[in-house]
Order: sequence, then structure tokens, then C-alpha cells
Amino acid sequence: MNSTIGYDLAAPHYDDKEDYLNSFEQGKVLTYLADVAGKKILDVGAGTGRLSVELSRRGGLVTALDTSSEMLKVLATKNKFIELMVGDAEYLPFDVGVFDYVMATFLIVHLRDPKRFFDEAYRVLKDGGRLIVTNINQKEPPEVKTDKGPIKIESFYHRPEAVQEKLEELAFTIETEDMVFDNDVWVNQILVARK
Ligand SMILES: C[S@@+](CC[C@H](N)C(=O)[O-])C[C@H]1O[C@@H](n2cnc3c(N)ncnc32)[C@H](O)[C@@H]1O
Repeated sequence: MNSTIGYDLAAPHYDDKEDYLNSFEQGKVLTYLADVAGKKILDVGAGTGRLSVELSRRGGLVTALDTSSEMLKVLATKNKFIELMVGDAEYLPFDVGVFDYVMATFLIVHLRDPKRFFDEAYRVLKDGGRLIVTNINQKEPPEVKTDKGPIKIESFYHRPEAVQEKLEELAFTIETEDMVFDNDVWVNQILVARK
């Protein structure tokens, strides 16, 4: 199923899986956004605000953008300081050089080719700003709960080397590549890329 329709349906149940989603990050993502007070942060594919709510609580000036208005409606119930925008990662509605951080967790798994989003992230970042992106190891979309029964949301597998290469082709400097493992299998790639 198309991602926007799928997440609109899944929104009321998305937070039930918070612990499961967190397990792919093991608390690491927020460590790369350590000092965010007063910093401008764009959370792309922010969903229900699993991470952006905490960043706002720490004083970050957060804009949450998502194609799913229903996911953002859930976010709105948790925090009134975050700016909400319905929009597409591939056409970010911002000027050049606006943000200190752009983050995208569990987003690129829904993009056929993340290059266009990376290009847009580069454009809207300030010089020296950072993109924090995660790449889940997911070859088959899992079933997701909705009020109308389980659905599968369209998703795409990206090789870690390919993700890194695409970022470097766009002139990002990779500062960190953090692979999260479950036993011997990588489950998530966390990249910090500087403009
Ligand atoms: C798995 S959820 C991740 C939500 C949140 N980032 C998190 O880590 O919990 C993926 C989100 O990306 C959004 N999304 C998918 N394709 C998108 C696109 N092209 N532009 C913006 N958001 C998109 C979905 O609507 C959904 O809310």
C-alpha cells in the first residue's frame, strides 16, 4: 500500500510499537543531537514525533514534516511547540541553508531512491549542518495494524554502502556510521553526514 494512505490508516496504532522501534536505535540517534537548545531541526517523516517530541523538550526548534496528516495529528496531541507541515521529503518547502539539523529516522525505507531527499536535505541545511539518517535492514514490509485490519506499506531495501555513496556523491562528509546489530545481523545503519 502507498505510504501516505498506509500511515494515515496506521496512525492511531503507531505508538504501540514504540519500544520495538526504539530497539533498532538503542538510544543512539539522540546522542548525535546532543546540544540542540535553540537549534533549528527539521524532522522529515517525523510521524507521531517519536524523536522530535524529545528534541523539542530539550529546547530544539523543531519542524516536523510528513506526508501523512494523520501521523502529524497524533504528534499534535503531544506537543504544541513543534511546527507541523504536511509535505514530501523530496520537495522540501524551505529556503537554502535554514536548518542546523535534518533528521530522518525510518524514512528512507519508504523512498524508492533516497538521492532526491538527500539532495533536498543538503540544500536546506546550513553550512556545517548535519543530516542524521537511519537505514533499517528491512527486505520485506512487516504487517502494520489498522482499524481496518493489517496492511503492508510499500518499502524499499537500501544497501548500507549505497546509502553512504549517495551521500558522498552529493558532497556530504560522513562523520559517523554506526551499525546497530542484533546478534550478528545488522538491523539499522545510523549515519551522521555534514554539509
Ligand atoms: C516508519 S515511520 C517513521 C516515523 C518517525 N520518524 C519515527 O522514527 O518513529 C515513516 C514516516 O515517514 C513518512 N513518509 C513516508 N514517505 C514520506 C515522504 N516522501 N515524505 C515525508 N514523509 C514520508 C510516513 O508517513 C511515516 O510517518
